[in-house]
Amino acid sequence: MAYKTVKDMEKKYKIITYGCQMNLHESEKIAGILRELGYVDTDSVDDADIIVFNTCCIRENAENHAFGNIGALKQLKKNNPNLIIAVGGCMTQEKGKTDVLKEKFPFIDIMFGTLNLEEFGELVKKKLAGKKKVIAIRETEGEVVEFDGAYRTSYPNAWVNIMYGCNNFCSYCIVPYVRGRERSRKPEHIVAEVKKLVAEGYKEITLLGQNVNSYGTDGLGVSFAELLDMVASIEGKFRLRFMTSHPKDFNEDVVKVMQKHRKILRLVHLPVQSGSNDILKAMNRRYTREKYLQEIEMLRSYFPEAEVTTDIIVGFPGETEEDYLLTEDLVKRVNYASAFTFIYSKRQGTRAATMENQVPEDVQKNRIMRLVELVNSLTRKKSETYVGRTVEILCEGYDEKKKMYMGRDEFGRMGYFESDKDEVGNFVWLKITRANGISLYGEIVEGTQE
Ligand code: 5AD
Ligand code: SF4
Repeated sequence: MAYKTVKDMEKKYKIITYGCQMNLHESEKIAGILRELGYVDTDSVDDADIIVFNTCCIRENAENHAFGNIGALKQLKKNNPNLIIAVGGCMTQEKGKTDVLKEKFPFIDIMFGTLNLEEFGELVKKKLAGKKKVIAIRETEGEVVEFDGAYRTSYPNAWVNIMYGCNNFCSYCIVPYVRGRERSRKPEHIVAEVKKLVAEGYKEITLLGQNVNSYGTDGLGVSFAELLDMVASIEGKFRLRFMTSHPKDFNEDVVKVMQKHRKILRLVHLPVQSGSNDILKAMNRRYTREKYLQEIEMLRSYFPEAEVTTDIIVGFPGETEEDYLLTEDLVKRVNYASAFTFIYSKRQGTRAATMENQVPEDVQKNRIMRLVELVNSLTRKKSETYVGRTVEILCEGYDEKKKMYMGRDEFGRMGYFESDKDEVGNFVWLKITRANGISLYGEIVEGTQE
């Protein structure tokens, strides 16, 4: 007779995450809540007692992806009626989406919004107590609720929210509708969280917000530059990053704080979206290509080596070939370290969805292909300049296929190397011997450094 081990009897959770860093970090919070309730994690949906979908709705394909994966669980739920299926994240906050979800997937047990995250534990308890369907979608954002129970899985990197929501209403974007208005966390809470993370051994801290430059403008009396200064003043060796900066608000005060602290990476994520002033205007971005290029110049006047990454949308309504070519031109001028490139996706309820001059799909596809090729060629060229140089890498893990450790340099470039001891979480100096596309290969030159 086969005995069950304690491990078999533990209740297990599986979280499936779509979208950005913000969502990945929220999944760490969901995991923390489930562990508090006595669940442990599993890799497989087949032996999970609760499956949580943390959804994204920024583009249509993210939604379709989630729909497909939720639908695929129908049989699993039939075979195991005790299985709990929960759907949370941005998609559930979309107007009318919970009705669509209810109709398409009547087997979903719990639906919770991004604004209801901290209630999730209570919702699971209600379900376990016998409630048939538990739905909690708050319409408006409340006060910031402090939560320090995240179960982090990204060591040696840690994400720290500094604010929630967005006030910008870029005309293509659904985020302000599903995440509410901007709310900043108090600086003392942020500083305490980072101190704790550094003491626990985390080596790279990323401050997160939809538009970090407007931190504190909701009445806190502390600006983003001041917050950055406070966090960078925390003792210990760690890297400090922040994202996302909005070009309409990015300013020299922040760059001056960067200059004061070598801990802050010389890397800025500054989404440009388009290189054409007409399109930027239609997108309601509230800056011009000239202002954007001036900001890059200002940044590089402080740090000639500074790298910039960006987000770009092609095929926005009304985008002509000339507009698109202005984007290509800007990409070459800035010489980005990397860029996330997207085809414009129509989102119900946004201003751009009602614009008449939508760009045909084949034109959008052609432009994204050309843009991706351009961005890749710039990245490849940059990789080649690394060969022969010595760079500091923060080791993040071990690549089983390559049988090598891997980590990133200050600018997010992946470097691979061999070592006969566990290097995860260490800073390592590598002499780069070879570059392959976006990856670097090197040898340790000075051993690890504390
Ligand atoms: N279509 C395509 N891309 C979008 N983004 C936001 N909304 C849309 C949309 N409707 C992109 C922007 C943003 C990034 C997070 O996602 O480039 O910076
Ligand atoms: Fe969306 Fe614009 Fe806010 Fe970014 S700044 S989340 S693109 S509305």
